[in-house]
Amino acid sequence: AIDPEFEQNREAVEEHDGHQVWGPVEEPETLGIHGTHVAVDFDICLADGACLEDCPVDVFEWVDTPGHPESEIKADPANEEQCIDCMLCVDVCPVDAIDVDPG
Ligand code: SF4
Ligand code: F3S
Ligand code: ZN
Repeated sequence: AIDPEFEQNREAVEEHDGHQVWGPVEEPETLGIHGTHVAVDFDICLADGACLEDCPVDVFEWVDTPGHPESEIKADPANEEQCIDCMLCVDVCPVDAIDVDPG
């Protein structure tokens, strides 16, 4: 599961589409955590898609991650600032790849 303390335990190493990426990042097999308020551990995400289907405000968008061992697309929190903290995505992800920090 994603580390809920990732902001303490990792470093922000780059930006992607307006959000932070928390390392380590070594493409293509290690991709880190994308986002801060809505955070997706790309190294755990296996492209189930429930988060994209269920998010009421369309926070997530697919991004291509060719060569990653778990899946070659990931749910990117491209619109994390739209999140309304409903926690649905956290509940539906089968591998607990998502952390949402309300407030
Ligand atoms: Fe979308 Fe709700 Fe998840 Fe926020 S907590 S990203 S609104 S499903
Ligand atoms: Fe990935 Fe979980 Fe969404 S596996 S696509 S973050 S439901
Ligand atoms: Zn991203």
